Amino acid sequence: MAFWNRRRSIDAMLAPHDGPALKKTLGWPHLMALGVGAIVGTGILTLIGVGAGLAGPAVMISFALAGLVCACAALAYAELSTMMPAAGSAYTYSYAVLGELIAWIVGWSLILEYSLVVSAVAVGWSGYATGFLAGMGVELPAMLAAGPHVEGGLINLPAVFIIAVVTGLLLLGTRESATLNAVLVVIKIVALIAFVAIALPAFDAANFTPFMPNGFGAPALPFAEQITGQPVVQTGVMAAAAIIFFAFYGFDAISTAAEETKRPERDLAIGIVGSMVVCTALYLIVAAAAIGARPVATFAESPEPLALILREMGQGTAAQWIAVSAVVALPTVLLAFLFGQSRIFLGMARDGLLPRKLAKVSVRGVPAVVTIFTAIVVAGLAGVMRLDELASLANAGTLAAFAAVGVCLIVLRIRDPHRPRVFKAPLWWLVGAITIIGCIVFFFSLRASTQMWFVIWNAIGLVVYFGWSAWNSRLAKGEETAG
Ligand code: ALA
Repeated sequence: MAFWNRRRSIDAMLAPHDGPALKKTLGWPHLMALGVGAIVGTGILTLIGVGAGLAGPAVMISFALAGLVCACAALAYAELSTMMPAAGSAYTYSYAVLGELIAWIVGWSLILEYSLVVSAVAVGWSGYATGFLAGMGVELPAMLAAGPHVEGGLINLPAVFIIAVVTGLLLLGTRESATLNAVLVVIKIVALIAFVAIALPAFDAANFTPFMPNGFGAPALPFAEQITGQPVVQTGVMAAAAIIFFAFYGFDAISTAAEETKRPERDLAIGIVGSMVVCTALYLIVAAAAIGARPVATFAESPEPLALILREMGQGTAAQWIAVSAVVALPTVLLAFLFGQSRIFLGMARDGLLPRKLAKVSVRGVPAVVTIFTAIVVAGLAGVMRLDELASLANAGTLAAFAAVGVCLIVLRIRDPHRPRVFKAPLWWLVGAITIIGCIVFFFSLRASTQMWFVIWNAIGLVVYFGWSAWNSRLAKGEETAG
């Protein structure tokens, strides 16, 4: 069958498969913890500074815009993941709705997203860990504290270290990791609430003017720098929204746990929508408290902005506590994305798009080969790259996947309106449209160089697809009936 006609059948997808089975151990509290654990992280703790630097106090609007697009994407995910509770998330939905080639592009983009999120969050962790150690009087040698982009830096060793620790945890098995995750999530939320409680009394409305110093911002195209020969610098509200977007995703990691969920039809919807709502409310309050407490310029460049704000307020002890909470709890984000990454690989390998050897599950129910391979690559990247570069490129991958999910929602409602839907997204056409348009606008608001790397990554992906995957997929070999 020609590749452009290859679509998986939803019914076949729901039938028991002959691949390695994952244990069903998770309920909605686990999923919500997995969601909040994956969402709250380096975005609110560190990228809030980068975003504020780009947009000024108007980063509040960036937060609201990114939250709106992600809330719509979350609704689309909730509908699709309860219809197709199979590991693989956006990749799996695209395979059934849009066909193999689009599914490949989405899966390949998800690999980029999940990998680079792990790297980016590890670098964010390193910022708080290094700050905490400095507060205790322990200075790491400059060579080992940051990558070569910082003067005197060679490798970000703390970032590499934390990836190694989390990989070990994950290899111990899903259930143990998910339960530990729940405890750490509470620590993270308490830390943010404590930050707000301490920062709010210092609220100064004057810090909000000028509100939008860099304007709203204009989109750019992927190869703009090469075409014009000029560096293209994106600033303003949209550029900030495109990077702050990082702070909001992670709920999609929940849908990658679908196969391990006891009652997917109910639990996934509660887990995805619930964790999104909690986080959006929390972020807006934290952002308002941070800007109200200190002018944006003071914390925009900091690798640990929230701790810095508290320290500047003379709250050194509270700053150390925020740092400790970040150090202890940020690994939940790493855990969720490393977990999600192995599930995407598993899904693609099971469908024959990647070598099946990769899908081998260990006695503890973990795809060990994939997990270890991913960990080595992301640790390498975290060791040498900048946080904002890692986060932007991760965003590019995520935006592609979310846009595809928006398209899947709309296409499936039109093509198959009577298929039972456990969770129905309200105003599906509007939810789908906001998701798609929002993702496209955010993508072109990312810096031109990020867009270019995304295009290059997918060009490599297409070479792999047409060179190997298109000939070896289960559908290509007729091992599964197409939809
Ligand atoms: N939303 C996650 C974070 O901010 C990726 O760290």
